[in-house]
Order: sequence, then C-alpha cells, then structure tokens
Amino acid sequence: MAEKQNTVTITDNRSGKKVDIPIQHGTHGSGVFDVRKMYSELGMFTYDPGFVSTATCSSYITYIDGDEGILLYRGYPIEQLAEKSSYIEVCYLLLNGHLPSAAQLETFRCNITCHTMVHEGMRRFYSGFRHDAHPMAFMLGCVGAMSSFYHDSTDVTNPRHREISAHRLIAKMPTLAADSYRYSMGLPFNFPKNKLDYSDNFLYMMFALPTDDYEVNPVHAKALRTILILHADHEQNASTSSVRLASSSGANPFASVCAGIASLWGPAHGGANEAVIKTLEEIGEAKNIPKFVARAKDKDDPYRLMGFGHRIYKNFDPRATLIRDACHELLNDLGEQQDPLFEIALELERIALEDDYFKERKLYPNVDFYSGIILRAMGIPINMFTVVFAMARTVGWIAQWMEMMDDPEQRIGRPRQLYVGPATRDYVPIDERE
Ligand code: CMC
Repeated sequence: MAEKQNTVTITDNRSGKKVDIPIQHGTHGSGVFDVRKMYSELGMFTYDPGFVSTATCSSYITYIDGDEGILLYRGYPIEQLAEKSSYIEVCYLLLNGHLPSAAQLETFRCNITCHTMVHEGMRRFYSGFRHDAHPMAFMLGCVGAMSSFYHDSTDVTNPRHREISAHRLIAKMPTLAADSYRYSMGLPFNFPKNKLDYSDNFLYMMFALPTDDYEVNPVHAKALRTILILHADHEQNASTSSVRLASSSGANPFASVCAGIASLWGPAHGGANEAVIKTLEEIGEAKNIPKFVARAKDKDDPYRLMGFGHRIYKNFDPRATLIRDACHELLNDLGEQQDPLFEIALELERIALEDDYFKERKLYPNVDFYSGIILRAMGIPINMFTVVFAMARTVGWIAQWMEMMDDPEQRIGRPRQLYVGPATRDYVPIDERE
C-alpha cells in the first residue's frame, strides 16, 4: 500500500486497479482507513474476526488509550471522575456530553428518581422463574419484559421518547437488580426510596428487612459509587456493540439493552468478576498460586486466569488500579482483618506480573480482578456481581444508543463474511442419497 497525504492507495495486483482509501483522524488515538467504498471499487470485503482492527462507528463519548492506560469519559480522566464526581453526575455527563450545572443536575436527579419504581405487573414475571435461577437470567427476562410496558415512549425516532426510555432504564435497573436478589432469597421486595442517592438506594433495596431499621453503611455506599463510575462506559466493547447492533434495526430500547445484558454475562466480559472470586477461592492459599499460573500458561490447557488480559489495555487497566486502591480503603475503613482472598489476589498479581508469559503478552489485571473483592466485602453475593456491572453499564449502553440514533451515518449493522461452505450443489431426493 502506497501512502499519499490523507489517503493510502491499494493496488489490486490481479487487475492493476488502484483505489484511494481515505484516512480519517479523530481527537486522540489511531486514525482509520475509511474502507466504505472498498467493496464497490474492488469487489472485496475486509476480513477481521473479533473486530481486532475495525472501528464500527465514530463516537464522542469515551476514549481509551490502551498503551498509556488512559480512560476518558467525554474527555474527563476516569481518575478525576472517580475521586470527585457522583454516579448520577457521570450519567448526566455520558448522556449529555458536558458536566451539569447545579440546577441541571438537580433536574436530572429528579427525572431519574421519579422513574425508580417498576410497574406492579412486572412483579408477576418473577414468579415464573425458578428461585435458583442466575440473577442475570432474571435481568434478561425482566428488562426484556419492560418492552411490553411504557407504550407512551416507543417511537425511537422521537428524541423525547428516547430520553424518557433512557431515564426509565437508568432508574429501574437497580430496582430490578435488587428484586432479582430478593426473589432468589425468598425475601419481600423493597420499594425504592427516592430520598436516597443511587448507590444508597440500591443497597437499601438489596438488604433492608421489614422487621428492622436499615441504615446504609456509608463506607459500602462510597465503594459502590466508585464501582458504578468505573463501569459506566467503555466504548465499543462486546456488550455495547451488541446494543448498537440490535438497536440499529430500530428495535425497542429495552429489548436492545437485553442484547447488552446477554453479551455482558459471558465470562470473557462482565461474567469475569464472578469467575475471579471462584478462581481465588479455588486457589485457596498463596502457596497454590504457581500451580494455577502454570495451568494458565499451558498451551494444552484452555484454562485462563480470570481477571487478567484485555483487548485494548496493554500496559495497565486504570480501572483496576483505582479498584485495587478502593479495596485497600474499604477493608481498612471497615476495620476488618485483611480478606484472605484479597491477599491471594495481590500475590497472584505480583507473581503474574513477574512472569515472562504474562509480560510478553501484556496481560495485566483488568477491572474485574478486584471488583469482586469489594462487592463481597459489602455482602453482595457472587452471582450478583455481573448484575451490578450491568446496572452500572446501562448508562453507557443508553448513551451509545442515543448517539447512534442521532448519527447521520447510522445504518442497520450488517457485517459480511468469507463463505467457506460447500460450493453450489444440487438437491438429491432422499431415496437417491448414499
Ligand atoms: N490467562 C492466560 N492467558 C491469557 C489470558 C488469561 N487471562 N488472556 C489472554 N491470554 C493469552 C492467550 O492465550 C493468547 O496467548 P497466545 O498468543 O500464546 O495464543 C494471548 O494471551 C492473547 O489472548 P487473546 O485471547 O487473543 O486476547 P483477546 O484480546 O482476544 O482477549 C480477553 C481478551 C479479555 C477476552 C482475554 O484476555 C481473557 O479471556 N481474559 C480472561 C477473562 C477476563 O478477565 N475478562 C474481563 C475483561 S475486562 C472487563 C470486561 O470487558 O468486561
């Protein structure tokens, strides 16, 4: 490929035909080859399983520099937001593109809190689930079921309808998440308390009992706030891309968010936080770490160390650094003995980071490595970890959906393929088949 200014020229060596491919640059980071005309000009597609080298959209929302370990929401570094902001303010920022004034924040807070209750009809859906179903299965079913309510706002071409759906989704996710836990425990559902902030309200709905007064532990609420902010968006990851692809057909937003929940559930994505705790429990004692590290390095063993590695971060995941610090802070504030799993995690990180296998492949702890330890310390059961991730990420999914719906370049998502199946052949009647 020869490069001219702002284009590269591709020559098809079979025909000698040359095509200029424009180069586009964004605010930060790698530019892109704009290959949209490639098929019409050369009759060829690009081939990129897993989208390793493919940008599927342009976006104003989130920027990641994987080499430098940088994460920005609307330009603001994640470290500053985690230290200084609130989750609800981060939601406003992701949706609107700027930090709110005090009045804007108050209006937004009211818009969210006036939607925290779920339709009473939703309650009947729960009894259809087995009591021991995974809470992510509840979430899939219940968020999907929400598409059968709220007929006042189903026109996705109407910005006001989109805004109402966005508020409803952000507001109702904690209620549905807490309900799924309460149902699985055989506990009565708690109605949301709108005088509480987002994190406090979730903890209240999870843990308050009708028999006792419940005070939200401020240390837990602070740690949860950090977790929510750090998970709020992460540009075009698998679940966000699933939401964009599902909704590119004009699908209902609740149904589209289900596509995100389904994708997030997998252990290579949001399900990793649950898998990390299971791994640490399996390791049991620091002396067993080398055995598990050896398994992860063994080419003949599919075993992976959960919570390590990332498609984009090749230096460190800034969210993991912040969560590790939050873990130290939480355990100190609670005045508890060091959690033995946290000690194993710290030692596992130390051993892996000194190991050539992990160094060569640039495998570092990711956001899921320490988040489970914080959630566990708050008394949140392991199978709820990915639900908390889904709750936090809903704003990211919705912000990306709203951006896509306003994007003049938006078209239905339709990836192509390299067909390697049988060549054309004739149907053989059943009595003539060998
Ligand atoms: N343990 C051992 N080896 C690993 C691991 C791991 N956790 N992750 C990657 N590798 C190896 C992999 O075997 C491959 O080695 P080789 O080049 O010799 O074949 C190399 O590193 C590259 O791996 P890859 O699978 O091609 O990388 P990817 O970018 O496709 O996958 C990943 C990224 C996050 C899915 C992967 O690192 C992984 O499975 N990690 C464990 C699951 C996890 O923690 N997921 C949470 C991700 S962060 C939060 C989120 O997105 O939800």
